Amino acid sequence: MKQDIQQPAGKLGVLIVGLNGAVSTTFLAGTLAINKNLAMPIGSLTQMATIRIGKRSENNFPFIKDFVPLADMNDMVFGGWDIRDESCFDSAMEAKVLHEKHLLAVRKELDAIRPFPAVFEQRFVVRLHGDFVKKGKTKFELMEQVREDIRNFKAKNNCERLVIIWCGSTEIYLPANKDFGTIDGFIKGMKENHPDIAPSMIYAYAAIAEGVPYINGAPNLSVDLPALVDFAERENVPVAGKDFKTGQTMVKTVIAPMLKARMLGLHGWYSTNILGNRDGEVLDDPNSFKTKEVSKLSVLDSILQPELYPDLYKNHHHLVRINYYPPRGDNKEGWDNIDIFGWLGYEMQLKINFLCKDSILAAPIVLDLILFMDLAKRSNHSGIQEWLSFYFKSPMHAENKVPEHDLFIQLMKLKNTLRELVGEKPITHTDQNNKHELIDDVDLYS
Ligand SMILES: NC(=O)c1ccc[n+]([C@@H]2O[C@H](COP(=O)([O-])OP(=O)(O)OC[C@H]3O[C@@H](n4cnc5c(N)ncnc54)[C@H](O)[C@@H]3O)[C@@H](O)[C@H]2O)c1
Repeated sequence: MKQDIQQPAGKLGVLIVGLNGAVSTTFLAGTLAINKNLAMPIGSLTQMATIRIGKRSENNFPFIKDFVPLADMNDMVFGGWDIRDESCFDSAMEAKVLHEKHLLAVRKELDAIRPFPAVFEQRFVVRLHGDFVKKGKTKFELMEQVREDIRNFKAKNNCERLVIIWCGSTEIYLPANKDFGTIDGFIKGMKENHPDIAPSMIYAYAAIAEGVPYINGAPNLSVDLPALVDFAERENVPVAGKDFKTGQTMVKTVIAPMLKARMLGLHGWYSTNILGNRDGEVLDDPNSFKTKEVSKLSVLDSILQPELYPDLYKNHHHLVRINYYPPRGDNKEGWDNIDIFGWLGYEMQLKINFLCKDSILAAPIVLDLILFMDLAKRSNHSGIQEWLSFYFKSPMHAENKVPEHDLFIQLMKLKNTLRELVGEKPITHTDQNNKHELIDDVDLYS
């Protein structure tokens, strides 16, 4: 059913936590270059992909950006928080993801983007030392300071709307704490400096309290707590997460459904990576790696459903390793060795070697998520935006649902959500289109 969507008039403020990091500055420099017509938004669905409308015989494929009312990339203004008091130009130069010539072309704009002091506690990111940080007696006070930053930024830049995205470092592994089952418990925890309230949760709370959509690009919990999800629903704020699905896991969520579609069995999947950027250094700490490992490991079981197919998948070994190797910088190299078996149990192997660039893959995801979350807010969506699972390694989901990991089912879900938003029929890909109701996504998955 067609939904009322507020038009994207005026400026869209984009606030990034981890403003001076590699992903953030690669996104910023790229967006500024694209806005000057110096580059193309390669990798971005919102800017480059089409969407089919109606039957295949109708040959109607508008661009997504012409089909739903997205904010214009030129209407975005940028700010955020970091523990390093630097201009985004200096940080981008230091990150060494983009060539100097690309950064010099947008130097003036990048130089003007500087962070607010961060909410930071070293216990949560052991390998970093922050000196540009907020001071306050309680976590509640720090959260109030973040809210003030948000309001000041909005007023100073004359923004109509805002989106906040966590591109900050991966925090240590924490299971969801039972004390925060309700929002009152969480507020009490902030006032009493509960040790399990991480900085990323403080930003998430502040965003929701200000009515601003919040996206979590890292694997730490941040907004993925029942209390904060309930709060988002109550305040009519969309939230999404977690952990951008960029390199190895993107590949995994294409190959694993292929094996399952052909009923090929799996003995084991060994994934290893070398990575030399600051993210690699942070993940070198076992507690931060554990957060990433849990996120990366969750994918296979959920796609392969060993409980339904014990003969094919029950006893598979799945290992994930990340090794910090400075010479490679942001140029991550991933290897996957996949031991499979087929007819009569005969064994085969698949080897994948992905020489990728981490932040180059993440930047268009940041752009799409910002624009889609702004659309979600203007369409009056609230709570977890499962239709954006496409972008995440560990998609947030309702408690009574299994997460969807298969990249192409995720894409179908995203596009059907867009179709429904503007009153077009979802496409089921059955032979007699339009005679059937859309099948529930759980049926499609099985
Ligand atoms: N690049 C990818 O492909 C990819 C994929 C999935 C997830 N991620 C996640 O995205 C995040 C960013 O990655 P990156 O390569 O840009 O890392 P990075 O280390 O270059 O940047 C992180 C930034 O966050 C800042 N920071 C840390 N704690 C903060 C806090 N409490 N408040 C404000 N700023 C804080 C750091 O100072 C740093 O500038 C990481 O968590 C990473 O795991 C990246």
